[in-house]
Amino acid sequence: MSNTNAPTVYTAADATGDYRDMLLRLMTRQLYAETATAEVFGRSIGVAPTWREKHLAAEFALEEAQHSQMLCNLLADLGEDPESLIANRPAAASFWNVDLDNWLHIAVFNFTVDRAGSQQIMEYRESSYLPWAEKMVVVLEDEEEHYKNGVENLREFSSAPEQLGKFQSVYNDMLPITLKRAFGRPDGPDNEFCLRTGLKRHSTEDVINRYLIEMRSYMDPVGLKFPPLERFAAENVHLVDSTRQILNSLL
Ligand SMILES: [Fe+2]
Ligand SMILES: [Fe+2]
Repeated sequence: MSNTNAPTVYTAADATGDYRDMLLRLMTRQLYAETATAEVFGRSIGVAPTWREKHLAAEFALEEAQHSQMLCNLLADLGEDPESLIANRPAAASFWNVDLDNWLHIAVFNFTVDRAGSQQIMEYRESSYLPWAEKMVVVLEDEEEHYKNGVENLREFSSAPEQLGKFQSVYNDMLPITLKRAFGRPDGPDNEFCLRTGLKRHSTEDVINRYLIEMRSYMDPVGLKFPPLERFAAENVHLVDSTRQILNSLL
């Protein structure tokens, strides 16, 4: 399902009423994700095993900080105070449920969580709120590099069966949380509102499925599986049938 008929909103002053409220919710969610991710990569400089990895972590931390700053500016234009929004965000480690002192956790994070964010940003790049859509072009270019490295990390870990087993076990914990934190509920009135107003062009169900199909294309060749469905149930992740089918295809 996609909708491209909603009117474009060109300036902050033109974002009003329910549209503005929903815009603020989506942008705050992205602000949370970008700032928490900046902190994860910043901390990971210390735990990365090689200089090449440390340098990449530093580069990614800077880029995530730049993404965060773009959101701060967009929110300030809408009359919000970004500092007070960020002050209400849970700590980065608990927000993503990741152990910041563990390189394996960082590698799984890079492959899993960071990419889920990109799939949301692909929607925002096409958003009816033009000031936001325009800024997301460069963000997505950075994110392509982050994901390339995430896939690279997966390939390295999966070259030894024992390492792949460890990667799998962290992934089993992280993917259900990611679906919940990065995408929210796959149905309901908010979803319909976003489609009607063009704040998003695809339903959350479609975005989640697109993400999982992309993930599967990198998992399948190296032997990584989706987490057992019980793991999603344990985290109270609501899965629609189409999503369940994708997960079932590589358990
Ligand atoms: Fe980012
Ligand atoms: Fe990223």
